[in-house]
Amino acid sequence: MVIKVFGDYDAVSAEAAKLVAGQILKKPDSVLGLATGSTPIGLYQGLIKYFNNKLVSFRDVKSFNLDEYVGLSPHHEASYRYFMDHQLFRHVDLKEQNIHMLSGHFGDAVGECERYEHLIEKAGGIDLQVLGIGRNGHIGFNEPADNFPGATHLVELDRPTREDNARFFRSIEEVPTHALTMGIRSIMKARKILLIATGKAKAEAVWETVEGRIRPQLPASILQLHSDVTLLLDVEAASLLSERLYVLES
Ligand code: GLP
Repeated sequence: MVIKVFGDYDAVSAEAAKLVAGQILKKPDSVLGLATGSTPIGLYQGLIKYFNNKLVSFRDVKSFNLDEYVGLSPHHEASYRYFMDHQLFRHVDLKEQNIHMLSGHFGDAVGECERYEHLIEKAGGIDLQVLGIGRNGHIGFNEPADNFPGATHLVELDRPTREDNARFFRSIEEVPTHALTMGIRSIMKARKILLIATGKAKAEAVWETVEGRIRPQLPASILQLHSDVTLLLDVEAASLLSERLYVLES
C-alpha cells in the first residue's frame, strides 16, 4: 500500500483528482469504479475543474458505481444515481451509455447483480476503483460479515451505516434497509484502487485497514492483499497509524 497523508480534506481531494485525471490521460477509455458518500465530493469537484479547463475529457471513459440503495428511484434525492448526476455526471462529457449503476428497482436481485458483473467484464474490468470507507470498515456496502462476499450482491445494511447515512434522508426510518453492492471480489479485481478517508471518525477503520488483521469483520482489511492500493488520508484519519507507514505531504 502507498499511504499519503495531507493536511486537510481539500489537499486530499486535490491529490485524488490528480490521480484520477492522470489515469484518464494515460488511458482515455479508462473504466472507472466510482464511489458515493461525502468524501469523494471534493475529488469530483477537482475532476470537473480539470474538465472545464480542457485538461481532461470523459468522452471515452466508462464508469461503474459501487452500490445503490434498494427501493429508491434514480430521481430520489438520496439515491446514488441522483448523487452522481449532481456531483459529477451532468458536469462532464461522460456519455449516458457509458454510465453504469446498479438499479435499486429490480425485479430479481440476483439477475440485476449478474447483469452488472457481466457488464464490468464486458468493459474489460475496472482500471481504477475509487473507494471511501465506512466507520465500521465497509467498502461499497460490504458490511462486516463472517465471510468476504465475492460478487455483486444484495446486502442488509448495518444500523451504524444507516445512522451515518441518515443525514441524507429526513429520518433514519427513511434510510433503506438493503442495498446492492459490488462484492469484495469485484472490487479486488480492479487493477488499481484509490481509497480516500478524512476526519477523526475514520481513524480507527483506517488503522484496522492498514495495520489490523485481515478479516471479513473489517471488510477493508482485504485491501492489504491487493498489489496496487493508494490511500489518501488527512492527518485526522491517519492519526492512529504508525508514522513509519506513510509519507506526510506538505
Ligand atoms: C456509504 C457508501 C460507501 C462510502 C461510505 C462513507 O456507506 N456506500 O461507499 O464509502 O458511505 O461515506 P462518507 O464518505 O460520507 O463518510
